[in-house]
Amino acid sequence: MTIHIGARPGEIAETVLLPGDPLRAKWAAETFLDNAVCVNRVRGMLGFTGSWKGHRVTIQGSGMGMPSLSIYANELIRDYDAKTLIRIGSCGAMQERIRPRDIILAMTCSAISTPSQGIFRELRFSPCADWSLLHAAWQAAQDAGTRAHVGGIYSSDAFYDERPDLEEQMIRHGILGVEMEAAELYNLAARHGRRALAVLTVSDHLLTREALSSAERESGFREMVEIALAAAFA
Ligand code: HPA
Repeated sequence: MTIHIGARPGEIAETVLLPGDPLRAKWAAETFLDNAVCVNRVRGMLGFTGSWKGHRVTIQGSGMGMPSLSIYANELIRDYDAKTLIRIGSCGAMQERIRPRDIILAMTCSAISTPSQGIFRELRFSPCADWSLLHAAWQAAQDAGTRAHVGGIYSSDAFYDERPDLEEQMIRHGILGVEMEAAELYNLAARHGRRALAVLTVSDHLLTREALSSAERESGFREMVEIALAAAFA
């Protein structure tokens, strides 16, 4: 047990999928895992361990934003020895060619700051994805015929962002989409020598203002989880 995760030693798998929403962790575990057991209920941040095609997997909610994700990822790595951590979540698209429901595989994450900034001090560290996971996820998306984009994303501290000038510069510099967690996940994976990737479904579009309906969200999330699981065990 840790401060935020009630699982006993051995109840967390080496491979962990991290949705922001704990109810999405429950849905994904019920939909994709065999013999899923709830291993965490602390603060309602549900976690489940089960198996997918014979491989042990944990699906643990991370909450919204980098400070929350940082707590769960730190404890999963330090106390439960998680080796592969894949964020599954939604993002807002920032390029015209990207459509709602497309998948974005985050190669790098730009951020104004992260919970790790204190140790980097003057350094602007570039958090990047694990290449083996990124490559395998790309392949899995190709095999499934899913529209996927690989490139840089923005991990924001604010959902209700009030910096249109910054958004404009990111769009100009090819940033694919915005979410709120991946940069810190990549920082922690780099620090502890673990593998990390963010597989993101485009739920809304910052330029066109389109957004997914709830039915479209569910089928989009299904593709995202399938890609993440295929990549983890490729
Ligand atoms: N901003 C930040 N995070 C998000 C967004 C967004 O527009 N959409 C989905 N996650």
